[in-house]
Amino acid sequence: MTTDTPAQIEALLAENRTYPPAKAFTEQANINDPKVYAEADADYLAFWEKAAENIDWFQRWDRVLDWDCPWAKWYVNAQLNASYNCLDRHLAKNGNKRALIWEGEPGDTRTLTYADMAREVQRFANGLKSIGVQKGDRVAIYMGMVPELPIAMLACARLGAPHSVVFGGFSPDSLADRINDAQAKVLITQDGSWRRGSIVPLKQNADAAVANTPSIEKVVVYQRVGEKANIQWNADRDIWWHDLVAGQSDQCPAEPVDSEHMLYILYTSGTTGKPKGIVHTTGGYMVGTNITSKWVFDLKDTDLYWCTADIGWVTGHSYVVYGPMSNGVTQLMYEGAPDTPDKDRFWDLIEKHGVTILYTAPTSIRQFMKWGTEYPEKHDLSSLRLLGTVGEPINPEAWVWYNEVIGHGKSPIVDTWWQTETGAIMITPLPGVTTTVPGSATVPFPGVFAQIVDDQGNAVPTGKASGYLTLTRPWPSMFRTIFNDPDRYVQTYWSKFPGKYFTGDGAKQLENGYYAIIGRVDDVLNVAGHRIGTWEVESALVDSGDVAEAAVVGLDDVIKGQSIAAFVTLKPGVEADEQERTKLKQHVVKKIGAIARPEQIIFTADLPKTRSAKIMRRLLRDIAQGRVLGDTTTLADPAVVNELKQKYESMGATE
Ligand code: WTA
Repeated sequence: MTTDTPAQIEALLAENRTYPPAKAFTEQANINDPKVYAEADADYLAFWEKAAENIDWFQRWDRVLDWDCPWAKWYVNAQLNASYNCLDRHLAKNGNKRALIWEGEPGDTRTLTYADMAREVQRFANGLKSIGVQKGDRVAIYMGMVPELPIAMLACARLGAPHSVVFGGFSPDSLADRINDAQAKVLITQDGSWRRGSIVPLKQNADAAVANTPSIEKVVVYQRVGEKANIQWNADRDIWWHDLVAGQSDQCPAEPVDSEHMLYILYTSGTTGKPKGIVHTTGGYMVGTNITSKWVFDLKDTDLYWCTADIGWVTGHSYVVYGPMSNGVTQLMYEGAPDTPDKDRFWDLIEKHGVTILYTAPTSIRQFMKWGTEYPEKHDLSSLRLLGTVGEPINPEAWVWYNEVIGHGKSPIVDTWWQTETGAIMITPLPGVTTTVPGSATVPFPGVFAQIVDDQGNAVPTGKASGYLTLTRPWPSMFRTIFNDPDRYVQTYWSKFPGKYFTGDGAKQLENGYYAIIGRVDDVLNVAGHRIGTWEVESALVDSGDVAEAAVVGLDDVIKGQSIAAFVTLKPGVEADEQERTKLKQHVVKKIGAIARPEQIIFTADLPKTRSAKIMRRLLRDIAQGRVLGDTTTLADPAVVNELKQKYESMGATE
């Protein structure tokens, strides 16, 4: 096993607090009988067939699953439409129910009912058609958190045009790479977005990206900021959202698509190469996100649900758009930063709107802890009845704080483990059934099968060593391939342990069988819940022109989980000074985006390598973390390490 056991896992293993579900919660829960696990174990295809009844199909399936590992087809030959499932089917009974309560960062609000959403989606879908978007065409979306983002996604789904949403914090280069990989025909963006009182220049970035993306024919621009946004206009290519929908009919029938029709591509970082285009298809993804939303968040007709994730990440795709909306829930959506205008914005929003379910990231929780309890204590949070976390391991201390300060000890916490690739939540408590343990995501969702294995692929016994987390059977919301790169799909995920899906995570089972997720065991960092490949940051550094070689490692960070440290060998003649450090950091931000900014840059004449020329990242991590040096006998030139270590120590604790 190549994983370190971080302090937080040590803490978890010593954890003896348990939190059984409260009787009052269990009595009202959507799922309160543990027999769902036994039923799904006995016949998992029957379980997933029953789950599919919660989705509306235009045509029923012939078979639940065709599995030719690693190629899956779920709900074979069935037809449906994701947008229909999120909108149309709610209209007869719930047309006037609120779908979105939206708050802009400056304090402006909008409310859209399901009927409003259906109307706007259809008008926009007709607009997209008018500029040539057809079934199968890829549409890139680069927006902030405004209602028009889910509207644009659902309009694409309505036409059967796969969307590729790119997080608004990514740089023009990152956007261009993703557009080019997907060969997107249209880009949807906005003039700008509000973040911490400033304008994120989305249109400017989009212009810079589109200069290098020959496949883009039209750029649709939603006006959010108005005059304050400093934008250029290309009359041949750009079209305002409001002009595109003006005069469009609000009737645009949902296109029936095959169960396996591509719903979207979402790019995520891997160990090598450019980000991978994770492909999700329609039928299985809708079944998986729909049932997990309903069971894990215990969604009720009366709830006001809030997932704080940006829709640019998979959490927003599955648990802002497709899962909750296919359940017809009312949700809150917030545009901006949690500390604008002050550090109590989240708690203010919860009190103001009466949020009942909150789903957020451990990074945010740790940030809130640091800001202090006075911020939540200023507000009445008694409407909350369930809390969730996702994106990274949560340390027991943060879990307990979340439970006590935010949940007042009365709201169950669901710590949900899953990935862009899995599409839906995989390991999680069911809040009316599962006794939780702080820091553990507990057990696989019914119909999901996990196993921790050693290097040889043999199961690691419960309570023993840690190992690699695998999933041993297919599941409906699984990704189907990497866009345009099926070989990489097979190689990355299905070759290490034949017949099993390799998650890239290390994990350990507690004595009671619960799973503790340790985090990535590959060269992928998890910074504030965002996946960043070390390779991406290294190539951005080399791209600066000043760098001969770079090696990037993740450091423990009390708030963000991990932060980035870069060991850099400069080209001859380049001065290793503070100015160069700043320049390199800025270059990484320009190439990838602010999320990839290295916290530390350590200059070194050489990098420690094994005799087969592999950079010894583990050693670099130990050095950067200030840990004692381990065995260096496999180093080609051990002197390099000692020099590095001395240099690091002479830089002081922070840099
Ligand atoms: C990590 C986000 C521990 C894990 C939905 C995984 C977690 C990666 C948890 C996927 C959790 C996510 N506990 N670790 N509850 N949830 N992770 O693709 O390392 O952005 O492989 O999907 O986040 O990140 P991704």
